[in-house]
Order: sequence, then structure tokens, then C-alpha cells
Amino acid sequence: MFLWGTATAAYQIEGAVAEDGRGASVWDTFAHEPGRTRDGHTGDVACDHYHRWREDIGLMSGLGVNAYRFSVAWPRVQPTGAGEVNPKGLDFYERLTDGLLAAGIQPVPTLFHWDLPQALQDQGGWMNRDTARRFADYAAIVAERLADRIPLWITLNEPFVHMAFGHAMGIHAPGQALLLDALPVAHHQLLGHGLAAGALRAAGVREVAITNNCTPVWAASQEEPDVKAADAYDILHNRLFNDPVLLGEYPDLSAYAPTLDFIHDGDLETISAPLDALGINYYNPTRIAAPPPGEVLPFTDTGVTGYPTTAFGWPVVPDGLRELLTGLKARYGDALPPIHITENGCSQPDELTGLGTVEDQARIDYLRAHIDAVMAARAEGVDVRGYFVWSLLDNFEWAEGYHQRFGLVHVDFATGRRTPKASYEWFRERVAAQNTDT
Ligand code: FCB
Repeated sequence: MFLWGTATAAYQIEGAVAEDGRGASVWDTFAHEPGRTRDGHTGDVACDHYHRWREDIGLMSGLGVNAYRFSVAWPRVQPTGAGEVNPKGLDFYERLTDGLLAAGIQPVPTLFHWDLPQALQDQGGWMNRDTARRFADYAAIVAERLADRIPLWITLNEPFVHMAFGHAMGIHAPGQALLLDALPVAHHQLLGHGLAAGALRAAGVREVAITNNCTPVWAASQEEPDVKAADAYDILHNRLFNDPVLLGEYPDLSAYAPTLDFIHDGDLETISAPLDALGINYYNPTRIAAPPPGEVLPFTDTGVTGYPTTAFGWPVVPDGLRELLTGLKARYGDALPPIHITENGCSQPDELTGLGTVEDQARIDYLRAHIDAVMAARAEGVDVRGYFVWSLLDNFEWAEGYHQRFGLVHVDFATGRRTPKASYEWFRERVAAQNTDT
């Protein structure tokens, strides 16, 4: 059964940050620091999904989807990231799970979507190897409660973005700007993935996946410096996260790290434990040129021009998704497990009309073209088994606060009122048509 779904993440929708024993996460801390997010927005209330989850399941039922990718907030389950479990936190995800199942929707949980418990950050966070072990313990706690009802589990969301934005550039929580010194964050997350995969299986989970955000890398020219820079970017964005998981080895990192002593014997075996699926998040390709002299990073992102853009300014290149998927198949061959597109979507300048509708034709065009690209990749032999729109609801878009609207459903952030957009109707029809065809 092909999974058609929508995706969200805990800190972006739940709100209720100080309720029922939830601990603080790095995103609570970061969003409350002056100047970190646009207009100082925080996830304190967000979409108030913690209270409105029944209504949100109703919206998914109306959409006719058969799956829902959400994330579990680690600090709700384990407020300090270690030791004591908060029963009310686990109860929330159990209510959500059972509500989804009653509606015929398969829950697809992601265990880490960037909201590390602040108490672990205070001990070094993902720069500290011990966080990987803590993550596996937390994964076991959640799975022991829910593995009997949920087949497919995702360990991490986009470890690249968490490393690059959160630890190399400092534009996401925890706000560290370590540049290439952030590399241990990649390894410790991947080690956490591997250890958690084992813990999940021990708790009875049948299917384990990781979600990587991948991008086709386009060299700005065929001149050697640009081609070399594009290769470096491909290594740091794509291969750093796919190779160890799928092949059990890192690409050559010697040019980017003075020492790799944070990689211990046996780690790669843990990280490359067999996977049942690979989650892929796709937004756009990346165009890379050689860096200017004296630059620390070995590349420059020139931006992709000549395409329409979203409200975020991201280029709309649907064929990039087909290129990415066929490229993964070419690179990894039989080592590539079945793929789920765990996120794809766009922000648009959506507004409620006087009639109370949202006419987001640009999102409809975006989704249609990207779903066509997925089907084209399938026709070329890539085993894609699911597609999840980012996102069900307009939500807290990290450093952009509430300024970027990605939802199929419009949210009035003053009242919490939900209004399905024209794209919601379109996706409902698209999913229904597919279900009739197959
Ligand atoms: C991805 C994130 C997701 C959302 C989209 C727009 O990188 O995983 O939470 O912010 O981008």
C-alpha cells in the first residue's frame, strides 16, 4: 500500500510547552533569546495541537490520507533527556496514536525533530557522544509503549540541517556557529540513529528508517574549481549522512576535519544496521561554486536562478526530485532500501479571502508537479512507497516564526482557527484518484 500522508513536527505545532510535565528543549531556549527568530516568534502556543489533536485528525480523515508523520517531543517523554519518564507525555502520544488508528490512518512517528532536551544541551548536546546513548534509551521508552501499534518508525529528521543550521551556522537551536568543527554532531546523531535502531527492534518495531534531507548538487560551471566545490558540498550535505547508513563507511572527510578521532571502532557497524526504508525530504537543488579565497568553507552556494520561487525564495524545480531519486538509485544500487518522501511542499503568501477561502493555486501546481516527478522516478525503477506533504497545518517555521505558511490547512494564529485551503481539496482528489487506480 502506497502511503499518502501529511507531515508535521512537535515543536512546530504542539504548543503547551509548560504543560503536563514537559521539560524545556533547545528550541524553547533559542526562540526566547532576543533576535534569534523573526519578530521573536516562539512555539509556546503554535497550532495548539496538544489540545486540538482530535480536530487535526478530523482534518486528515477529511483528506482521505492513510498515514501521518509526526514527531515525538523528547522533553515531553523524558523532561531532562535521561532517567525519569513523564507518564503524561507518553499518554499524549498514545492518545494521538489510537485516535489515528481509529480513523484508519497509520501513525509514522519521528523520534527526533531537533527539540533536544535543554538539560542534555547543558552537557554538550550532540557534540557529546553520550547523547547518542541517551537517544537510544528514549527511543526504547517510546517503542515499548507503542511498537505493538505502529509498524514504521523514523529515528532522526534531517541530521544535516540540524548540524548545519543548528551547530555550524547558528541560525537554528542550539545556535552554535562552529563551522566545520560541527562535524562530530553528524557522527553522534548517526550513532544515536544506529543505537536507537537496535533499541527499537528490541522493543518489537518491525520497520526502521531515518529521514535525510537531500539535494541534487549542481556545479556552477564545468571548470575544475567549481566541480571540486560541488563535490565537497555533495559530500557534506548528502553523502556524509547516506554513505555511513547505507554503505557502512564515510566519504573521504580528511579535507574537512583535522582529526576524525570522534569516530570509534565499531561505530560504523552500529550506524549501518539494516534499514527497512529511507525517508527523503526534498525541497530544491543547490548550485555550488568555488569559494572566494580565504573562505573557511570549501564551497559557495550561489543560489539556483531561472525558476519560479516560493514565498521563502526557494526555487521550484520538480524535476530535481526525479533527478535526486534516480541519482540515489544509481549511487547506492541494491544498498538503497525502499524510499518514502517524508517531506515535500512549499510556503506561499496565503491569505484568507473575503469568502473565507484560501486560493493557493501555486501550491497545487507545486504538489502536482512534484508528485508527477515521484511517479516518473518510480517508472524509472526507484522503489518509492510513500509521499507526505509538508505540512498539514501552517506552523512555526523555525527561525522564520509564523511568517512562512506551508500548510494544506490555513491556521489563524490569533485564534487557532483552521481553514482548509484549495490545495487541501486538490490533494484529497489526488489521493482518491490514486486509490481508485491501484
Ligand atoms: C524541513 C524541516 C521541517 C520544515 C521544512 C520546511 O527542513 O524538516 O521541519 O521546517 O523544512
